[in-house]
Amino acid sequence: MPVIILGGGGDYEINLAGGWDADDKGPSIWDTFCHEGGRLVLEGQSGDVTCNSYELWEEDLRCIRQLGLTHYRLSLSWSRLLPEGTTRHVNQKGLRYYNKVINDLLASDVLPMVTLYHFDLPQALQDQGGWKSPEMAAIFDSYARFCFETFGDRVKLWITLNEPYVCAKLGHEDGIFAPGVKEPGIAAYLVGHNMLRGHARAWHSYNVLYRAKQGGSVSLAINSDWAEPLDPASPDDTAATERYLAFTLGWFAWPLFVTGDYPEVMRSSIEVRSKELGYQEGSRLPRFSKDEPSLLGTADFFALNYYTSRRVKPGEGCPGVLGLKSDQDAEGVVDPSWPVCGVSWLAVVPDGLRKLLMYVKDTFNNPAIYITENGFSQMGPVDMEDVQRCGFYHDIIQEVARALREDGVDVRGYFAWSLLDNFEWADGFSVRFGLFHVDFSRPERPRTPYRSGREYAGIISKYRSQTRANN
Ligand code: BGC
Repeated sequence: MPVIILGGGGDYEINLAGGWDADDKGPSIWDTFCHEGGRLVLEGQSGDVTCNSYELWEEDLRCIRQLGLTHYRLSLSWSRLLPEGTTRHVNQKGLRYYNKVINDLLASDVLPMVTLYHFDLPQALQDQGGWKSPEMAAIFDSYARFCFETFGDRVKLWITLNEPYVCAKLGHEDGIFAPGVKEPGIAAYLVGHNMLRGHARAWHSYNVLYRAKQGGSVSLAINSDWAEPLDPASPDDTAATERYLAFTLGWFAWPLFVTGDYPEVMRSSIEVRSKELGYQEGSRLPRFSKDEPSLLGTADFFALNYYTSRRVKPGEGCPGVLGLKSDQDAEGVVDPSWPVCGVSWLAVVPDGLRKLLMYVKDTFNNPAIYITENGFSQMGPVDMEDVQRCGFYHDIIQEVARALREDGVDVRGYFAWSLLDNFEWADGFSVRFGLFHVDFSRPERPRTPYRSGREYAGIISKYRSQTRANN
């Protein structure tokens, strides 16, 4: 039986980890969004304290050890390290904090996978234009180099950016995530473009300056649904599915793994829609300049965040409206047989992951794949005996094992999302993804394993003994 490594998703600084202004930390766009964003976060909740991992790291470590994780994915807060976003001012206490976290993990035999950017741009950089500004690529590169230089002797798995799709679309098209920009059909493409440019620069920096002495790997975490035609016999549904995948997975994976540019169908759909709408200010999907570091080949592995699946048909159109939705012209629907768990977008489809893994294998030249996020949420009354989530983890890990064993997909690892209940972005605390329950009503934020946490620990221990037996 092949063995994959099993990790857990960190809540650590991901989804904000408390201490929002502690010890010289600068504000991030999520701090601003919560405090001033027109109350777009559920019930005006904020990420100021959340699970308070800033003060309770040792508690998190205890949970990590209790699960027996082999790997732990955590994100750095840029503005905790560099309060204004640049290395002119380094927050020494922030630095000490992350050094301790990384050292504690290693001392516990847990390998860290570190994400440099998870939605929370320093506000100071947003004030200079944020990701819409072309300057951001160089600024991100300089932050990335600082992190490689500082932590790279110990960190061997790096993610530059988490889910650029979400930053671009939810943050700059829909305006429902920080920084709350609503410029449909324009800003998201620009933001995605600058994020890709920033990623490419950071990867090249690592490659030239650090790879030989540090020996790590660097990638970008791409989120995607699995998508298949609503009616498999319909050419229109099939074409719509191709567009659906091109505008999510392909947008960020095609440049890195296939051509160095966006998928052709994405470019042509945008051009066609621009013409129809009489948009004349040049292409809305920017072009990569030949004078810049190339994107092709700038991922040492495929980092995939998978949550759900959709059946797809042509969009019902937003005639006359500029926007990503009308460019994509594809609509995903939930199959009535799929249970929806907790949050409304999360239809539970474990075998969608297996199909997506096959698609990634075939489309992106059989890369090594880490599933960097996957999980199941609860909403409503807390259920500590969360049998559905237990079933979900058993099923999904089976699907991963099948992809590995029967389909020959090169899966290297699986990270359950998430270690703790936390601040679930615009949904505040109403949605709980944790393997550990966190009582947000108490100052000590006690962490208690759900039944799914205990069972996940059991799965890990089983895989660990298989590894030992195989060796
Ligand atoms: C994000 C996580 C989040 C998860 C569930 C992903 O988009 O990276 O921070 O908790 O989705 O919504």
